[in-house]
Amino acid sequence: MKHYILGAVSAVALVSAAQAQDSLVIGHALSPTSHYGVGAQAFLDTLAELSGGTFTGEQAPAGQLGGERDMIEGLQIGSLDLVITSTGPLGNFVPEVLALDLPFLFRDYDHARSVLDGEIGQELLDAMGGNDLVGLAWSENGFRHVTNSQRPITTPEDLGGLKLRTMENAVHMAAFEGMGAAPTPMAFPEVFGALQQGVVDGQENPITVITASRFWEVQGYVTLTGHVYSPAVVLASPILFEGLTEEQQGWFMEAARASAAATRAEVDRLEAEGVDLMRANGMEVITEIDRAPFQALAAEAAWPVYTDQFGTALLERILAVE
Ligand code: PAF
Repeated sequence: MKHYILGAVSAVALVSAAQAQDSLVIGHALSPTSHYGVGAQAFLDTLAELSGGTFTGEQAPAGQLGGERDMIEGLQIGSLDLVITSTGPLGNFVPEVLALDLPFLFRDYDHARSVLDGEIGQELLDAMGGNDLVGLAWSENGFRHVTNSQRPITTPEDLGGLKLRTMENAVHMAAFEGMGAAPTPMAFPEVFGALQQGVVDGQENPITVITASRFWEVQGYVTLTGHVYSPAVVLASPILFEGLTEEQQGWFMEAARASAAATRAEVDRLEAEGVDLMRANGMEVITEIDRAPFQALAAEAAWPVYTDQFGTALLERILAVE
């Protein structure tokens, strides 16, 4: 949807653009058949239906438009319409969001979804508006787990010295440093190659991503650490969104909620079959570990990165949600 770049110079162009048949691009980091791909398609289908075909579009999957950080920047300058992204790099743009990436914050999927669908989630979506982004709806990546090529991980000592790719996220990096690994931040499109070439020994991601990326081709071991719940969010460019009528904005928000629901359903499905799939593809999967020592080290190192700046009020509210 190129015309809206002109919107800054012509309000008339924006109005007529919003009325014309238009083709949108929604970017994300994973394959079209992944949980993000399913969510992106649900967004496009719902929006086309609600708008009677005025808004159609296509996916730019698999990091075709760069890593998640690049795509978020694309929204801010209006070179991209929509993105489904994890919150991993989002804290670099909307610092309050860093809270959601703290290790061992959310108890389980129900807890995370209740927080994000409630008052706290809405406040954080609203905060994106102050940072040249439009937060349309919370979606989902999933609880993150550690994979590696060296050895089975059952205690924090096993992480010792392991070169582990993390997202470009300050609290994730602090958590892994605290647990004894050597965190190496890297954009996702580079990860498979880095694992293949031995630039890093391991990485951490939800089952959804491990299976969609066929990490078993380069990783022998996975431990279900569940150390971080990784939210995703459907974001729009303010340059696009502010050129829409109120009714059209409503369609975009409804389409984003449909996208999130489709993604979460896909996460549930993939989590249920993921362990078998990883084993069938030759990975050693460690499902039961004592999480307490991981939690103690990760929380001690990572939580102050957030609380020193923002205090504990939001975390207490999150923990109190049933
Ligand atoms: O590891 C990441 O960077 C993210 O989890 C991913 C795979 C891009 C999905 O948001």
